[in-house]
Amino acid sequence: MSGIKKIGVFTSGGDSPGMNAAIRAVVRSALYYNLEVVGIKRGYEGMILGEFEDMDRKSVANIIQRGGTILRTARSADFKTKAGREQAYQQLKSRNVDALVAIGGDGTFTGAKVFGEEFDFPILGLPGTIDNDLFGTDFTIGYDTAINNVVDAVDRIRDTAESHSRLFIVEVMGRDCGLIALRSGIGVGAESIFIPETKTDMEAMMHRLEISRKDKMSKILIVAEGEGDSGGAVELAERVKQRFPQYDTRVSILGHIQRGGKPTCMDRVLASRLGVAAVENLITGRRNEMVGLLNGKIAFTSFDHAIKHNVEINKDLFKIVDILSL
Ligand code: F6P
Repeated sequence: MSGIKKIGVFTSGGDSPGMNAAIRAVVRSALYYNLEVVGIKRGYEGMILGEFEDMDRKSVANIIQRGGTILRTARSADFKTKAGREQAYQQLKSRNVDALVAIGGDGTFTGAKVFGEEFDFPILGLPGTIDNDLFGTDFTIGYDTAINNVVDAVDRIRDTAESHSRLFIVEVMGRDCGLIALRSGIGVGAESIFIPETKTDMEAMMHRLEISRKDKMSKILIVAEGEGDSGGAVELAERVKQRFPQYDTRVSILGHIQRGGKPTCMDRVLASRLGVAAVENLITGRRNEMVGLLNGKIAFTSFDHAIKHNVEINKDLFKIVDILSL
C-alpha cells in the first residue's frame, strides 16, 4: 500500500470532451476510498501558482455530460523549467497533496514524467486528447466525441454539396496524427483521405477523381491538418481546381468545433473506467504510467512509451476508403 491520503487532479494541454467525466470519476472514487481530493486549476500553470480547490461529491455533480473541463486547462512554459517545477512541488507539499492524476495528452505526460522522476512523486495519467495519438490505449478520452462531431458536420456539408454538385475539401484536426481523419473519413463515406502517416500519391488521387462515377453529385475529400504532401486543404483545392475546372470546389476547415460539445456515451464510460482505475492503482502503489484501455481491459503504459508517437495506422481501415468510394 502507498500510504497516499490526498490526491490532486488536473487537466492540461488541449481540452477534450470527457475530461469532466474523468474528473468526476477521480473525485468520486477517491472519496469512496476515503481519500481527500483537490482540484488543481489550469494544469501545471495553476499548480505552480497554487490554484487549488478542495473537491467533494457535490463539486462534480452534473458535469459528466459537459464538454470542456471544469478545472480549465493551460499549456505551461514555466513548468518546463526546473524552477517552475520546484515551485509546483512546494505548492503540493504545502497542501499535503501526495499523489496526482494528470489528464491530458503527450505534453501533459512529458511534464508528468519529468516531475515524477525529479521529486519521486506518484502520478498516474489519463489519456485526454481528441487526437488518439497515445500509445497504450485503443482510444483516448475525447476521440470518439471528436469523430462524431466531424461526422455530424460533414453530413451537413454533404447535403449542401449534393444540392450544388460540389467537391468539398474538409480539413480536420489531429495535429500530426491522422486518426481523426481516418475514422471520420470512413464514417462520412469520403472519396479520399489525406493523413500525415502515409505518403499521398497525388496522381493516383487525381486519377481516382477522374474515373469516379460521373453520376456522383458530390465529392468529399478529408485532409488531416498535419498532412504535408497535399500542402493542406487550401493548396489541395487549388490543385484540384486546376486539374478539374469543371468541379465547383469549396474548402471547409472545421477547427475547434470538433473539440467542443457533449461527450458521447463511449467517452463518458471510458473516462469513468479509467478514472476509477487510476485512483485504485495509485492506492496500491503504481506510479508514472498512463492508464489506458487495450482490448477492453485496463492497461498501464510508462509515460515514456505512451508519448513516443508510435501509434500505427490500421492499413485495413485506410484501404476501406479506397474500396468503398468508387
Ligand atoms: O491536441 C488537440 C488539438 O486539438 C490538435 O488536434 C490541434 O492541432 C491542436 O490541439 C490545436 O491546439 P489549439 O487549441 O491550441 O489551437
